[in-house]
Amino acid sequence: MAHFTRTLLAILFLWSGLVAGLTSTLQQVTNFGSNPTNVGMFVYKPTTVKTKPAVIFAIHYCTGTAQAYFSGSPYAQLADTYGFVVIYPSSPNSGTCWDVSSKATLTHNAGGDSFGISNMVAYAISTYGADPARIFVTGSSSGAMMTNVLCAVYPNLFAAASVYSGVAAGCFMSNFGGVDAWNSTCAQGQVSATSAQWASVVRAMFPGYTGAYPPIQEYHGTADTTLFPENLGEEVKEWAGVFGYNAAAPAQVLQNTPLAGYTKSIYGPNLQGISAAGVGHTVPIQGNEDMKWFGFVAGGAAPPKSTGGATTTVSSTTTIGTTTPPTTTVSTPTSTPTSVSQHWDQCGGQGWTGATACAAPFTCQVLNPFYSQCL
Ligand SMILES: *[C@@H]1O[C@H](CO)[C@@H](O)[C@H](O)[C@H]1NC(C)=O
Repeated sequence: MAHFTRTLLAILFLWSGLVAGLTSTLQQVTNFGSNPTNVGMFVYKPTTVKTKPAVIFAIHYCTGTAQAYFSGSPYAQLADTYGFVVIYPSSPNSGTCWDVSSKATLTHNAGGDSFGISNMVAYAISTYGADPARIFVTGSSSGAMMTNVLCAVYPNLFAAASVYSGVAAGCFMSNFGGVDAWNSTCAQGQVSATSAQWASVVRAMFPGYTGAYPPIQEYHGTADTTLFPENLGEEVKEWAGVFGYNAAAPAQVLQNTPLAGYTKSIYGPNLQGISAAGVGHTVPIQGNEDMKWFGFVAGGAAPPKSTGGATTTVSSTTTIGTTTPPTTTVSTPTSTPTSVSQHWDQCGGQGWTGATACAAPFTCQVLNPFYSQCL
C-alpha cells in the first residue's frame, strides 16, 4: 500500500509539473508563435532568474516527453542555481521521436518540428527578456539529432550546443519524403561523407547564410548499438567542415576527460568530440560540463559565436553573453552567393532558387531529389 501510495504520488508530481526541491514548476505555453507541426512548449522558469536570463533548450529522446526530460535531466536544478530559463520542447510525433528527416525540418524557415522550436526563441526573448546571445541547446538521442539540426538550420538563433548521442545534421534525411522517418543506414553508422560534403549539407539547410555557427560539443558512447559509434566521427567531420578544422587531427586530446574512460578531442575552439568508452545509448548528461561549455561556470567555455572559427583563438570565459551576434561575413568564396555555384556548393534540388551552374572544372551532380552539388 505504501509503495502504491508512493507511486501514485510520484505520478501526481509528474502530472502537476512538480519536482521536489525546485523553486518553481513546469508550465506549458501555448500560442508562442507559428508551429505547423504542433510541437509542445514547456518552460521551467526558476522563482529567481538573472536579469536578461540565458535560456537552455533541453530536447528529449524518443518515447520521452518534456515532463520526463524535466524530471530526468539536471537542467531545472541547474537553472535554480544559475538563474537561467529551461525550455523543454515536446514532440508531437507518434513514438515522440523528432522529425529530423523531412525537407521542411531540414530547411530554414520551411516548417517541420525545427521551425516550431525556432519560434520558441523569439517568444523567450520577448516574454522572459532572455538574452538573444545566450540561447543554448542540448538534447539526448533523438533530441541530440534535433540539436545538431537546429545548429545547422537555425545557426542564427543558438549560441552553443551540447549533443548526447545523436547523428550528424542531415544524416537522417529521408530521400522518400519521410517525416519523422527512421534512417537505419545512418543509425547503423553506414553513412559516411567527407568534411567538405557534410559542410555543404549544413550550408544547404540555410542557403545564403553567412553568419557564424554555434560552437558544439558531441558526446557519444563506443558501445552504442542504437546509433552506432561511427556517428560521432560523422558529427565531428560535419562541424569540422563548417568551422574549417581538420577532423583527422584534433588540436588536443584529453584522456579521462571529463570522466574516467572518456576521451575529449578538441578540434578547435568551436568543436569538441567526447568518446565515452564502453558507454551505450545514451551518454549520461554531464550537467556541470554543460555549465562550463555554456559559460555559467569558469573553465572550458565555448568561445562567443564568431565567424572564422579556424583562426579564432578566443578562450575567454567571461565575454560570452556580453557580445552581440556578429555581423561579419564569411570571406571564403564557397559561401559567397554568386551567379555560379562553387565547388561543394548546392546547385539544384527541389525548392532550390540559387545558381544552377558550377564554376569550372566542377559539374552539377544530382545527389538526391532535394540536393545537387558542384563536384
Ligand atoms: C538515409 O540518409 C542518407 C543520408 O544520410 C540517405 O542517403 C539515405 O537515402 C537515407 N535513407 C532513406 C531510407 O531515406
